[in-house]
Amino acid sequence: MMESTGSTLWTFDELVAAVGGRPIGPPPTFIGGISIDSRTIRPGDAFFAIRGDAFDGHAFVSMALGAGAATAVVAEAKLAGLGHVSRSLIVVEDVLSALVALSQAARARSTARIAAVTGSVGKTGTKAMLAAALEVDGLVHASPASFNNHWGVPLSLARLPPSARYGVFEVGMNHSGEIEPLVRLVAPQVAIVTTVEPVHLEYFDDVDSIARAKAEIFLGVEPGGAAILNLDNPYFDLLASLAANAGIERIVSFGEHPEADARLEAVDLTAERSNVLATILGTEITYALGSPGRHVVQNSLAVLAAVTVLGADMAQAAGILGAINAPTGRGDRYELAVGDSSATLIDESYNANPASMRAAIAVLGQAVPAKGGRRIAVLGEMRELGDAAPSLHAELAEPLVAAGADAVFLAGPMTESLWAALPESLRGGYADIAADLESPIAELLRPGDVLMIKGSNASRLGLLAEALRARFAKMPAGAGEGQGREIA
Ligand SMILES: Nc1ncnc2c1ncn2[C@@H]1O[C@H](COP(=O)(O)OP(=O)(O)OP(=O)(O)O)[C@@H](O)[C@H]1O
Ligand SMILES: [Mg+2]
Repeated sequence: MMESTGSTLWTFDELVAAVGGRPIGPPPTFIGGISIDSRTIRPGDAFFAIRGDAFDGHAFVSMALGAGAATAVVAEAKLAGLGHVSRSLIVVEDVLSALVALSQAARARSTARIAAVTGSVGKTGTKAMLAAALEVDGLVHASPASFNNHWGVPLSLARLPPSARYGVFEVGMNHSGEIEPLVRLVAPQVAIVTTVEPVHLEYFDDVDSIARAKAEIFLGVEPGGAAILNLDNPYFDLLASLAANAGIERIVSFGEHPEADARLEAVDLTAERSNVLATILGTEITYALGSPGRHVVQNSLAVLAAVTVLGADMAQAAGILGAINAPTGRGDRYELAVGDSSATLIDESYNANPASMRAAIAVLGQAVPAKGGRRIAVLGEMRELGDAAPSLHAELAEPLVAAGADAVFLAGPMTESLWAALPESLRGGYADIAADLESPIAELLRPGDVLMIKGSNASRLGLLAEALRARFAKMPAGAGEGQGREIA
């Protein structure tokens, strides 16, 4: 994503005025960026000492200034505790509120066309595709990673360069009531809801309540704006009516449904890509997608609908989708050196819930193992599912069988119901913790295998994927390429 580097994002006076702060120390000439993380400070950034998920930023003020931050925004109550600081500070009542205020100023001065993306799964993937697609038409600013919460949204927005032609922001939630204040900051012209699925069920009575919480995204849409909704999802009607209640007159539907405004006509799903024929608001188009899976096809329909509504060139935008790979941990592929040949690792270790598990299992099913190879699924727990957890795990047996999995490895007590539901011939191995699956998988692995790894972040499947990549690393070129190490 294009970011302005080295140029003025805010003048110092603009920033001070926006946050309503009291400057002390020698003021910098300009602010080049906004940061809340002293480890990734770039010279010229303003460091906001907010309380993050784990730490209070006030502990890192001197580190941030030492790393080149132009100024630090700190709380009045924490000022004395900082000791003597010879550099620029801006003192405010509350640092997070100051960041929110700056994000409001960023939005107020922006002439960008703005999209907000929410949904139970696919926000980051859809956002990345949309941002890349809009770049055919000018500077795009998009939130990084999954910066979609009470600090991620204002931070992303505060970084919106005034010259941006488009802004694409991810908005997420774990609880009802969280999206509304965030989308009011973003004030998008277009709100996308990718899909509604049983995710974070622990915090909701049912999926209906999840749909209602997602629908808060409509409350911030600018007058004359549009909602882009999934017609294949059972919650379409509910979302459409809540969008209408919020005053949105333009509902654009996407999906395989024959009446969808952005409609899939035909698709060829291959192991590593898809080729799509679609009709997007009346225009027929063919395009390729650089990462596999029907779920990516779904997301791409929402993307091209948004591109059209935002006024960019849809055909040109579609043309670049074939060059976009899966975001990290969401289907990126690695070659493992096994025996004198190789196996394929599909790293889906970025989080898991029933919808994304099924999507990943389907991608494993599309993979074509080389001669003698097998399809191996390595699955961890899906967290935050509440009472429904045992049945939602057990229900994965059916898609695993349908995908032609040859062996399934499971990690974590919550997967026991799935173990019980699996046909015996598919039971590869079980361990309480993911790391303990490394050896049994390594013993089983042979050339041609395709291995797909997925689980909730907390179940640490990502570390297992890393360990397997290290263990079966390809030899550096010239050091016996093609003579991968033997199975341990
Ligand atoms: N439309 C979809 N249906 C089902 N699964 C999907 C869909 N889109 C993406 N996925 C899968 O869901 C997982 C998460 O994708 P992504 O990171 O884009 O979602 P997210 O909504 O941003 O997640 P988070 O809430 O953690 O930020 C990935 O495994 C991805 O392949
Ligand atoms: Mg995300």
